[in-house]
This record gives sequence, structure tokens and C-alpha cells, in this order.
Amino acid sequence: MNSKTYKRIGEFILLEKLNSGGMGEVWLAKSVGAFNVSRFVAIKMTLNHLQGVKAAQLFMDEAKLAINLQHNNIVSVYDFKVEKGKFYLVMEYVHGTSLQQLLEKRKGTDQSRLPLPIIIFIIREIALGLDYAHHCTDRWSQKPLQLIHRDISPQNVLISYEGNVKIIDFGIAKSKDKIEQTGDGIIKGNCSYMSPEQASGQPLDLTSDLFSLGIILWELVANDRLFYAEDLYATLKNAREANVPDIRQFNPTVPAEIVRIIHKTLSVDRNARYRVGRDLAKDLTSFLSQEFASFTQNDFAIFMKSSFATEEKEISEKIKTYAEVINSGWKIAEEDDEAQNNEPAEITIELIEGISADEASNKAIDLKSLLVGQEAFSAQKKPVPSEQPKKTKVPIHVLLKRAADLLLKSVFIFIVIAIIYFVFFKIAMR
Ligand SMILES: Nc1ncnc2c1ncn2[C@@H]1O[C@H](COP(=O)(O)OP(=O)(O)O)[C@@H](O)[C@H]1O
Ligand SMILES: [Mg+2]
Repeated sequence: MNSKTYKRIGEFILLEKLNSGGMGEVWLAKSVGAFNVSRFVAIKMTLNHLQGVKAAQLFMDEAKLAINLQHNNIVSVYDFKVEKGKFYLVMEYVHGTSLQQLLEKRKGTDQSRLPLPIIIFIIREIALGLDYAHHCTDRWSQKPLQLIHRDISPQNVLISYEGNVKIIDFGIAKSKDKIEQTGDGIIKGNCSYMSPEQASGQPLDLTSDLFSLGIILWELVANDRLFYAEDLYATLKNAREANVPDIRQFNPTVPAEIVRIIHKTLSVDRNARYRVGRDLAKDLTSFLSQEFASFTQNDFAIFMKSSFATEEKEISEKIKTYAEVINSGWKIAEEDDEAQNNEPAEITIELIEGISADEASNKAIDLKSLLVGQEAFSAQKKPVPSEQPKKTKVPIHVLLKRAADLLLKSVFIFIVIAIIYFVFFKIAMR
């Protein structure tokens, strides 16, 4: 018998840890809805040492902002929840990798530099996502959020194997209102992708995110790092000074239009930069259609799939197995509902060999009950024959109440009959 133990949080089964970041852990998870209709999600939860009001506040800020954002180039946040003191975000799961991982994979190979149309495609998609976030309004009040991401870096860009590019991690993003309330001056985020004003702790506008995107563009085209230095302070100093070497020294083949776009994006003078992301996206789209007219997202998907063939196969196979969890032939063996140290509770799911489809679907409903609550689960443990009406034991106080009701009704009917009889008798006697 095959058996595996999974942790769970709320209604979600945590299947596999995808990554641990500064703010928390990110898990591939699965929720189980009615009739075993389930979906995969990514769950980002606070680390144990980050628990408390401050971490909760950061998470809440991320949730409140990100929940407003619905765009193809931004990872959707579905929900923000708390379970046994742990805060977590429920997000769209991106079946793919981060831009950082894509770069690491190619590092040291003879194809370490990404092909130009792919670079331009990725940057264009991020620019579109940023443009949307920058101009997004609060869903309820319709007030512009004037959101600035403040941590645009290759770690915070996910790319699916289907060629979708998505911005994640609005953890330190702030709307303009928030900046005014809290005051700026605290430096957070990845220093090597900071605009000079951000590295100096000055107030930011949306062009700061576009500058960060410009750094990514420069690095991808140059196949080198721009401000990064071994030492954090040296990195910060580079970012503050923002001396941008001529890209052609690093890549002599770069077309003049891309040199122009890079210079405009990385201008220290905010007024000389692109004012909005869609303007940058527009220039990149024109370049793509002129120079690489036949390049489409499908080509990018083919590139991603061939670059990550092994990884994609591995994770797809795992996902297939995870889809089977409770779908067919899996059952819960035991449950540890009392989570210790705020750790998510654990459930053990066993593969029963030779189980029938019907039995399997009953097991799935068992799990649903477990996830809904212990009470429902206990009821499920004692199977009830489905065809026969359920025999219910009626408590004594209910029986007494029913008897009293019956007695009252009888007395009432007797009085009514007596009155009628009396009236008739009187009339007859006259
Ligand atoms: N929705 C998601 N789908 C798949 N992987 C994700 C998702 N969100 C985050 N990850 C993985 O987790 C990593 C860290 O996520 P992130 O939100 O940036 O956390 P942190 O705030 O710790 O930086 C990402 O680089 C990525 O590898
Ligand atoms: Mg991150």
C-alpha cells in the first residue's frame, strides 16, 4: 500500500513546496470543492518567525492591493485567509518558472544570452502588466490606487511553459495613499534593480518601476549585471549613481532602436523616461513587428518548453499524481487536526490498490467532509445506506412538546364543539 502524508491549511491540501522567500513559503496546493471538483492553486504563507502583527500587516497590504488586480500579466490573488495564526494568500498557480530561474539555467552555457525577440517579448509583457497595475482603481471605491510595485526583478516575474509572463509579489508595493501615510525613506526590495530615487529613499512615482524594468532589459541584452556588486552597499551606491554603460560595449549587435529604448527607460531624469508602461510596450511591439514579424507567443511557448523539457515533464507527472489524490483510489488514513506550533495539520492519504471508481468517489466525499469540519467527518465515518430513509431518534422533550400540542388542540376543538352545541340547544329550546 502506497501512502503519503500531506499538510493542509484551511480547505487546501499542500502538495509541494515551490519556494521559500523572504516573506514566506510558497506551496502548490489543491482545493476540493463539491463533487470532488478541485483546482490547483499557489499558497503563500507567513514563515513561523514572521508571525505577529507586522507580518500580518505586510501580508494584508499585499492581499488588499493584489486582490484588485486582474490582468493576464499579473498573477491573480484569489483570497487572503488566516488559519491557526498563519496568514496565507491563495493565488493562481503558474505552471512554469521565474525569469531568474530561466537565466540561471542558461548561465555558463554557450547560449546564455536569451534570443532578442524573446527578451523583447518578456519585457513588453511586464510593461503591460505594470501599466495595468499603475492605473488600476480600487474595485469598490473606483479610486485610482496609484500602485507602485517597488520590487520589479527577475525573481518576481513568472513565466509559464505556455509562454505567459506574469508579475508576482506585491509584498512591498504601496499605493500612493500608503506612501504618504507611512512616509518613504525605508529601503526595501532588491537593491540591484532599484531606480536612483528608490536607492536614495526618495518618494517614488510609477516611472521607478519602469526604470527597474529598464535594468532587466539592459541586463538581458548585455547578458551581464548592471548595478549588482558583491557588497550590498556597493550595489546601493551603483544604483544611486545610476551610471549606465553603453550597451553596445556588451552586445555590439544590438539594434539602434533597442539602444534608444534602453536609454530612455534608464534615464536618471524622470521626465525623460517613458511616462507610462504602455508607451514602452508600444515601442517594443513596433520593434517586434518590424524586425521579427512572425514571432508569436507560441514561439515563446516552444522556447520555454524546450528549455525546461525535463522540469516540465517532472512537474506535469507530479501534478497528474496530485490530481489523483482523492480523485480515484486515494483515501485519508488519519488526520492530525491539532496543529502543533501553528504548523498546518497533517493528513495521510493512502493509495488503495484495486479500488472501484464508486468507492473512490465516496472517499473523495469523505475528504471533502474532513476539510469542511471534524463533525461532518465523524458523520461520514459511519456510512449510511443511501437508498433507505434515515431512521432518526427523537429526543424525549420533543415528544413531550408534541403531546402537549396535541392535547391543546383537542381541548380547543372540544370547547368549539361545546359552544356550537350550546347555541343550537338554546335556539331549539325557544
Ligand atoms: N503563483 C505562483 N505560482 C508558481 N510559483 C510561484 C507563485 N508565486 C510564487 N511562486 C514561487 O515562489 C517564489 C517566491 O514568491 P514571492 O511571492 O516572490 O515571495 P517573496 O515575497 O518571498 O519574494 C517565486 O520566485 C516563485 O518561484
Ligand atoms: Mg519575491
